[in-house]
Amino acid sequence: MDSRRRALIAGNWKMNGLRAPALALARALAAGVAGGRAARPELVVCPPATVIAAVAEALAGTRIAVGGQDCHVGASGAHTGDLSAEMLADAGASVVIVGHSERRADHGETDQLVAAKAAAAHRAGLAAIVCIGETEAERDRGRTLAVVGGQLAGSLPAGAGPANTVIAYEPVWAIGTGRTPTLAEVAEVHGFLRERLKALQPGWEEMRILYGGSVKPDNARALLAAANVDGALVGGASLKAEDFLAIADSAL
Ligand code: PGA
Repeated sequence: MDSRRRALIAGNWKMNGLRAPALALARALAAGVAGGRAARPELVVCPPATVIAAVAEALAGTRIAVGGQDCHVGASGAHTGDLSAEMLADAGASVVIVGHSERRADHGETDQLVAAKAAAAHRAGLAAIVCIGETEAERDRGRTLAVVGGQLAGSLPAGAGPANTVIAYEPVWAIGTGRTPTLAEVAEVHGFLRERLKALQPGWEEMRILYGGSVKPDNARALLAAANVDGALVGGASLKAEDFLAIADSAL
């Protein structure tokens, strides 16, 4: 039985993208896709919130969806500087990343808050990409599976399912470092997460589980072919159209 799910390649632009270079990147991706690149996977790019609307407009009518990088739990209200999932949807997003390790570290986001943000995404009709991953110290202490298992259980809201939720396993020590786990380590964690999803709620095991952390054109093919890897969340390499397209071309 072929249990492969359709791959998802997601670009996380992080705090990169003034208007002109963001639009140039979006247009280069659109041109690549129009020319037949990245034909197999589903594609999404997550630009900074200030350019979501412009990027969504530039990508309208293409196969490339647009996402946010975070959202508030509320729909509106007195929360200076925050953005609701409804606002992201209104700007043209169909997806939002929640619980990225940089937000967990920089803003003290807990599993409980991440689950509430995922629920907010669903309320607004957005799919949530829920990020989890161990630190280097946790891996060194042999705590990887315990940590990611706990984050998984704590970061998924009621109402989550394969249609509106994607998991991204991103070892914190692999993000932006050029280091990646071995393929065996990736397969071990992804296989474990698949089992945990099933145990949490039958049917949840159909959620896609992306790998993230130093995915590059030269390692993407192997990572994307690893057991239970259903795509990639790409940071640095998503800022270069050719690299993002090459990674997406590697998807099965
Ligand atoms: P990286 O970032 O590809 O630059 O390692 C991945 C991420 O943080 O999503």
